[in-house]
Amino acid sequence: MTRNSDLVTAVEDSLKAPSVHNTQPWRWRFRGNDTELHADRGRQLTGTDPEGRDLMLSCGAALHHLRVALAARGLGCTVDLQPDPGDGDHLATITPTSGPVDPIAAELYRQVDRRQTERRRMSHRPVPPELLAELAEQARHAGAVLVPIADTATREQLAAAFREAAARQRFAPGYAAELQLWTRRPAGTHDGIGAGNIVAPAANESPLRAFPGHGQLDQPRPAAGSGAPEAADTGDAAELMVIVTEGDDTADRLRAGEALSAVLLHATRHRLATTPLSQATEVAQARSAIGRALQTAAQPQILVRVGWPATTAGDLPATPRRDLWSVLLPS
Ligand SMILES: Cc1cc2nc3c(=O)[nH]c(=O)nc-3n(C[C@H](O)[C@H](O)[C@H](O)COP(=O)(O)O)c2cc1C
Repeated sequence: MTRNSDLVTAVEDSLKAPSVHNTQPWRWRFRGNDTELHADRGRQLTGTDPEGRDLMLSCGAALHHLRVALAARGLGCTVDLQPDPGDGDHLATITPTSGPVDPIAAELYRQVDRRQTERRRMSHRPVPPELLAELAEQARHAGAVLVPIADTATREQLAAAFREAAARQRFAPGYAAELQLWTRRPAGTHDGIGAGNIVAPAANESPLRAFPGHGQLDQPRPAAGSGAPEAADTGDAAELMVIVTEGDDTADRLRAGEALSAVLLHATRHRLATTPLSQATEVAQARSAIGRALQTAAQPQILVRVGWPATTAGDLPATPRRDLWSVLLPS
């Protein structure tokens, strides 16, 4: 297999990256031995994500998926971030190299097809601190910092930030329409979030985003005969973590997206369930409140919920993706 076909199939793998509302706001262009990642502004959620943070995080996740896919093919890469001063949406040019191969990225490849967003209640079994430390190391390796929320008081402040964001977004022009648009996609669009991945509304709880009322995903039942509180109506032992970066420019947001991808894939490797949570970082006031709660000058980019899946939770349906030809820019 030639290197060019490796690059093409690696870009195809990158399309499995998570993205806000499964908008897949990326375009790819092949140029000689390189590939270019571009933001697709037509897919920005201007009501939900007016600053374009989620869009950049999603593109950063795709970039990290590409690194992982190249590493699995025995290739390294150089990444030139924002190489064109005249085109801020040309986010990166990636050149595959024969080495060195990032061993951490190569290990994550098998998780690309397994990772899914879990919105149901998780188990009451706590996540061991060693695993949380490994997730933080993944984020650090990708150029960001993962801050675990260790104490109840900070967790409560975060929950308040989510409530504030939800309250403000209720009246934000376009927010509700975007939720409807991206959860009720016409046949053949291969994007958006299907009803089978959205929890039935009565059971939804903070800090999860409230999706429109047509969710069909049931909460897991308590394990039969266990008498255990797992999956009972009393919350769970999922951990909340915040990905932060030093600055807040496009490169910082891309790095945060790379870190998000690394954290989600590494968690999947250990059979942990994950939910990216961006509602509180989409609203300026709520995002500032998170910074105050963490007592940091660093920039909150996104939250991640991580926990063991409930033992009685069934499989989630696969989420759709557009194919390579739908996201290619002319070379
Ligand atoms: C930047 C970003 C923000 C996201 N925000 C949320 C969120 O607030 N709530 C949620 O339930 N899922 C959120 N997600 C998860 C996406 O909805 C999910 O990745 C997408 O629907 C594809 O599904 P999958 O992750 O199962 O492949 C987010 C993902 C990304 C990358």
